[in-house]
Amino acid sequence: MYSFNNCMVGIIGSGAMGSGIGQIAATAGHQVVYYDTNIPSLDKAKTNLTTTLQKLEEKGKIKSASDVLSLMSFTNDLNALKDCGLVIEAIVEKLEIKKEVFSGVEKIVSESCVLATNTSSLSVTSIASACKKAERVVGLHFFNPAPLMALVEVIPAIQTDTALTQAAYELMKTWGKVPVVAKDTPGFIVNRLARPFYGEALRIFEEGIADMATIDWAMTELGGFKMGPFTLMDFIGHDVNYVVTETVFQSFFYDPRYKPAFAQKRLLEAGWLGRKTGRGFYNYNSTEMPQPNKNETLGLYIVERVVAMLINEAAEALHLNIATAKDLDLSMIKGVNYPKGLLSWCNEWGPAKCLGMLDSLYEEYHEDRYRASVILRKYAKNKELFNV
Ligand SMILES: NC(=O)c1ccc[n+]([C@@H]2O[C@H](COP(=O)([O-])OP(=O)(O)OC[C@H]3O[C@@H](n4cnc5c(N)ncnc54)[C@H](O)[C@@H]3O)[C@@H](O)[C@H]2O)c1
Repeated sequence: MYSFNNCMVGIIGSGAMGSGIGQIAATAGHQVVYYDTNIPSLDKAKTNLTTTLQKLEEKGKIKSASDVLSLMSFTNDLNALKDCGLVIEAIVEKLEIKKEVFSGVEKIVSESCVLATNTSSLSVTSIASACKKAERVVGLHFFNPAPLMALVEVIPAIQTDTALTQAAYELMKTWGKVPVVAKDTPGFIVNRLARPFYGEALRIFEEGIADMATIDWAMTELGGFKMGPFTLMDFIGHDVNYVVTETVFQSFFYDPRYKPAFAQKRLLEAGWLGRKTGRGFYNYNSTEMPQPNKNETLGLYIVERVVAMLINEAAEALHLNIATAKDLDLSMIKGVNYPKGLLSWCNEWGPAKCLGMLDSLYEEYHEDRYRASVILRKYAKNKELFNV
């Protein structure tokens, strides 16, 4: 019923994400129309794409940069999207603006055109509600930088046609991506499961159990993560990372598991946004960076505490049917380069060990934040492993 064969792809918003998503579509052979209200943004996208594609040609990753570029056009006229079979929106993360754009574009495209949103934190269902034919709307959540990150979360809204979810999933595979299907709930998979990586590290830091350099050292050297939480938050920028945390916290009706930290909020208030402003948790203008305390017992405690919280989040997502165990694991490996899937990690430890960690934290703090997922308790009791 849905076929995207050789269809024209429209990209709304030619910023960081939109330009990358269009690059993927054009490389897969689609004609791509970039639409943006901001002309300098279109010009910037065109220049950057030309450089990127030329570099890819030099490296032998694509045959011809000019062939791919010839499939692309750039416009500030929404009517240019009228012949598209698929339109992917990647504009500013504001619900009312996205709804306006969806309602506007639906008036221009054909009945059969599929409309997708790259939102990372809004409800796809809310966005779809702006359309008369809401069943044609689906979430396609790419990761930054889109051409390099394999994962795409395919998110059906409650109105989405089931056949469209499957077709979008298949299309992402033909574009060389690794798709997973996620329920339309806050943070989808990756932005939900990753919260404790920051949140629990911040808690350990705020309590003075360890300093940031020690936590970063433990999570990379002993935990096998590519970047420590404080380095990563500085890299992402606190304007983005803190806002995601706060949005997820509000969207989950203030569940204490997702509670933001003052240590990070203050950085945002100070304008210490991380690497891009030269200062965040770390001061990048200083010649002396803080050194970790390489105490292995402390390091292992940090890793086990953060990983137990991450596993708990994955287990709870499985329990609530956010995605399959396989997709939950795949998402963290392909979306944020985790060293292993969280449920596989749990299998390695044994659910009983993970449950023990969480129950002892709960015992110590008496905070709802540390409540173990019921599925973890069940698996531990039955000595079962997750089907990853
Ligand atoms: N940056 C990330 O890491 C990331 C990752 C995944 C998803 N996302 C999501 O992708 C979307 C875009 O993010 P981004 O980082 O590319 O933003 P960006 O600021 O780099 O680009 C947004 C573009 O949209 C254009 N725009 C704004 N309003 C418009 C409108 N009404 N009509 C047409 N164009 C309009 C802007 O001119 C700009 O060029 C957001 O929904 C964001 O949540 C971002």
